[in-house]
Amino acid sequence: MHVESHESEQDVLVDTLQRPLRDLRISLTDRCNFRCTYCMPKEIFGPNFEFLRPKVLLTDDEIVRITRIFAGLGVNKIRLTGGEPLLRPGLSGLIQRISTIDGVRDISLTTNGSLLTLEKARDLKNAGLHRINVSLDALDDRSFMALNDVDFSVEKVLGAVEAADRAGLQPIKINMVVIKGINDHSVVNMAEHFRGTGYIVRFIEYMDVGNSNGWRLDQVVPAREIIARIDQKWPLKPIMQNPVGEVARRYEYEDGQGEIGVIASVTQPFCLGCTRARLSAEGRLFLCLFGTTGYDLRTRLRSMDTDDNIATYIRNIWSRRDDRYSELRSSQTDGIRKVEMSHIGG
Ligand code: GTP
Ligand code: 5AD
Ligand code: SF4
Ligand code: SF4
Repeated sequence: MHVESHESEQDVLVDTLQRPLRDLRISLTDRCNFRCTYCMPKEIFGPNFEFLRPKVLLTDDEIVRITRIFAGLGVNKIRLTGGEPLLRPGLSGLIQRISTIDGVRDISLTTNGSLLTLEKARDLKNAGLHRINVSLDALDDRSFMALNDVDFSVEKVLGAVEAADRAGLQPIKINMVVIKGINDHSVVNMAEHFRGTGYIVRFIEYMDVGNSNGWRLDQVVPAREIIARIDQKWPLKPIMQNPVGEVARRYEYEDGQGEIGVIASVTQPFCLGCTRARLSAEGRLFLCLFGTTGYDLRTRLRSMDTDDNIATYIRNIWSRRDDRYSELRSSQTDGIRKVEMSHIGG
């Protein structure tokens, strides 16, 4: 295992499967202006859905404090997610504060791009954001609008990607969730469109997160098949070297036109490399993406608990960690009530 220079071997916090804690995914809001059918279907996330009330959301001060505590435990990568994180007021101020925390080396954002103007992108970059991942599930409006379910056009998302590029938020990754019979016809188009642009498309196997999307195994297009379809047109070779904790398997075009990735959580799980913890917008700590209830950090942040006490609490939780949902996904895990993706941001 690679050990950071400021930590001795003994200090590294690992769980029962020897996984170190390295990444923190922070959900800034449970709201989103899209209603992707695989994430926030309208029948469930409709006008009567009760989102988190403002006073239960972590404040910027609380987020900065808890991030600092996590950094002290070995976290060096921060990802801001949602719902849609750009809906959070004062985002660049928060980023600016996170960027000054000792030990934080990478700050990135996962967004649907709908609110990302050039001005906003520059503002985020100046605040200290390093890079962004933008979700885009198809290149034709008919398929894309059927998926986002709010008539948002492909062109506007492409505009956001360009804005991010001009602002210097690289490398830019484009996330496409692939669902059989819904948008898998777009796989080769997506690869073609982004070949040679420097943007990295990642094809994501549709996952059984949450309880709302009615996921079925037969809707998953295995990563192997996605790669085969692209490789047939433009030969690919695997990139062997993967940064610790990266979820995507990377491939590059043999003709030098860049790289793509597949996130094969269903057919080729990567739980043994899972270095991620997740913080919901209301301050619950989840470990596995397929967690159920999480651990309440907000109450501790709002009580007289010291940073050291909170760090010890988290240390204990992490050191007992043994979850690896994707590797077990089966009868053993059927029927459990899982947290929604929009609640913890993937
Ligand atoms: P990079 O640091 O750029 O590689 O980001 P990322 O891929 O970790 O984050 P992003 O928000 O772009 O997530 C891409 C996809 O990977 C989403 O579908 C996430 O839900 C999924 N993902 C991220 N982390 C995990 C994980 O720990 N387990 C599983 N099963 N899926 C994950
Ligand atoms: N399976 C796979 N990926 C998903 N995402 C949202 N829901 C799912 C799902 N059920 C993706 C989003 C976004 C990222 C955070 O997670 O498209 O790119
Ligand atoms: Fe919103 Fe992202 Fe979920 Fe779509 S996948 S509804 S953009 S949070
Ligand atoms: Fe980590 Fe859970 Fe994803 Fe496995 S399924 S990689 S344990 S978050």
